[in-house]
Amino acid sequence: MSPESPEFAHLFEAAILGWRPQEGDWSVEQMRQHLLTYPNGAKALCHGSSLVSLVFFQQLPGVVEILYLFTLSSSRGQGFMGSLLNVLFLEFNDREFWLEVRQSNQAAKALYLKWGFHLCGQRPHYYSDGSTALLMSRPASLSLK
Ligand SMILES: CC(C)(COP(=O)(O)OP(=O)(O)OC[C@H]1O[C@@H](n2cnc3c(N)ncnc32)[C@H](O)[C@@H]1OP(=O)(O)O)[C@@H](O)C(=O)NCCC(=O)NCCS
Repeated sequence: MSPESPEFAHLFEAAILGWRPQEGDWSVEQMRQHLLTYPNGAKALCHGSSLVSLVFFQQLPGVVEILYLFTLSSSRGQGFMGSLLNVLFLEFNDREFWLEVRQSNQAAKALYLKWGFHLCGQRPHYYSDGSTALLMSRPASLSLK
């Protein structure tokens, strides 16, 4: 689902009710600001009548950069983010993908490696707590599993 769908705003507000950001998570304000600025820069996955996963991205020449993504904590480990990423990979099949991830974020790193990203660089002391950012990319036109 795209943020331009008529039901998106209602589902988004319901999903982020009670959002308690951990270290590295986007705030609700950051999400709202991104949706306002880039209405084409997000995709959501619904399960039943609830929004369970969201990915925020930006399009650059030849590249899609994933800026942040999450699955609601009660819905993790059920393949939802993998499904949502595949929607994005299909739509932008001819683009390379880029992202940054905290070195300590084991779940996100495993997700990205599973879906065809590889490590292409790192930025030591990148985050305010001194932790390292890993840079990952996924080549264009990679076939889907
Ligand atoms: C990372 C995150 C988005 C994964 O969402 P999800 O819907 O649970 O992911 P999926 O169920 O589609 O999992 C796909 C793969 O990711 C990896 N993965 C997901 N959760 C994992 C965990 N807790 N530990 C290790 N690997 C994990 C596995 O490789 C998994 O494949 P498998 O089930 O075949 O082992 C979710 O944990 C999350 O929202 N985390 C908080 C926000 C965040 O860290 N965002 C990333 C910022 S860069």
